[in-house]
Amino acid sequence: MAETTGTTETIKGLEDLPGIGPVTAQKLRLAGYNTLEALALAPSRELVDTVGLSEEKAISLSLKAREMLDIKFQTAEELLIQRKEITRLTTGSKALDEILGGGVESRGILELIGEFGVGKTQICLTLCVTVQFPPESGGLDGRVLYIDAEGTFRPERIVEISRNHGLEPVDILKNIVVARAFNSDHQILIGEKTDELVKTENLKLVIVDSIISHFRAEYIGRGTLANRQQKLNRHLHRLLRTAEIHNIPVVVTNQVVASPAMFFGPSNKPAGGHIMAHLSTNRVFIRKSKKSRRIAKIIDSSYLPEAECVFMISDKGIEDVS
Ligand SMILES: Nc1ncnc2c1ncn2[C@@H]1O[C@H](COP(=O)(O)OP(=O)(O)O)[C@@H](O)[C@H]1O
Ligand SMILES: [Mg+2]
Repeated sequence: MAETTGTTETIKGLEDLPGIGPVTAQKLRLAGYNTLEALALAPSRELVDTVGLSEEKAISLSLKAREMLDIKFQTAEELLIQRKEITRLTTGSKALDEILGGGVESRGILELIGEFGVGKTQICLTLCVTVQFPPESGGLDGRVLYIDAEGTFRPERIVEISRNHGLEPVDILKNIVVARAFNSDHQILIGEKTDELVKTENLKLVIVDSIISHFRAEYIGRGTLANRQQKLNRHLHRLLRTAEIHNIPVVVTNQVVASPAMFFGPSNKPAGGHIMAHLSTNRVFIRKSKKSRRIAKIIDSSYLPEAECVFMISDKGIEDVS
């Protein structure tokens, strides 16, 4: 089966592939394909469009990259074995872990949806700490990349959460790589580099908070929607591929938009339309309850039951209601 998750094998670069000279390598990097894995898993049409390769060359390079990485077709049995490699990361709340099927799962995108102030960032900040727990405590014993699109990452809050989990804040802070994204193109660019960063920085989690705000702010009006969705699609595809290649979770936050079509019940729906819905592996809708309490609900899942739970925001980040 595909051996793409190993970190001990010798890392091969783009130039190791016969047929890639310095010029092609440079073109690929400029378009965001920094590793052989990214090249192997890119649709050849995408390589034609974004790198400017001929169709023949694009097909030949992606086939060769797959060969070199030993990526081939998989049987259902092999896929089941791969599913067993899925790791789970605790959110800090057992109730929330439970409705997620045992924690945030690797090889997929978890989307946290909710209004401003509902606690999406608080969950992300908590995950920055729990990902560093050892596996027996629900962590992944690893580092995290935090793509901060809204400028709301707070190291002081990490210090507080770490202390209240009995951890030395300095050790925890060192393992959080923060990348501030200043606009949607910048965010896409960082997204394209994550695949390589995961390798070099030994990351076990990638967070994008939020995935949508720059896109919504920059693409205003009906005429720009198709273009926005196309860019968002590519951005999410890259993130999903990174999650799959490296067997790690990717967590993104999303806003809500008013839904005029609904007369009853909640009157808002996740932003990002069907692209967002399609590319998220699991979606959690969060709403406010009394004081620091929050209600989380699994929506649109193909395999998780539509469960609900209550958690709270506290000095430990997020945790169960005591
Ligand atoms: N240190 C803290 N202790 C308890 N609650 C906090 C703390 N910091 C922030 N909160 C609560 O978290 C909420 C804001 O959550 P946030 O994650 O910023 O929302 P979102 O990202 O969904 O807009 C507020 O209700 C705030 O009271
Ligand atoms: Mg936020």
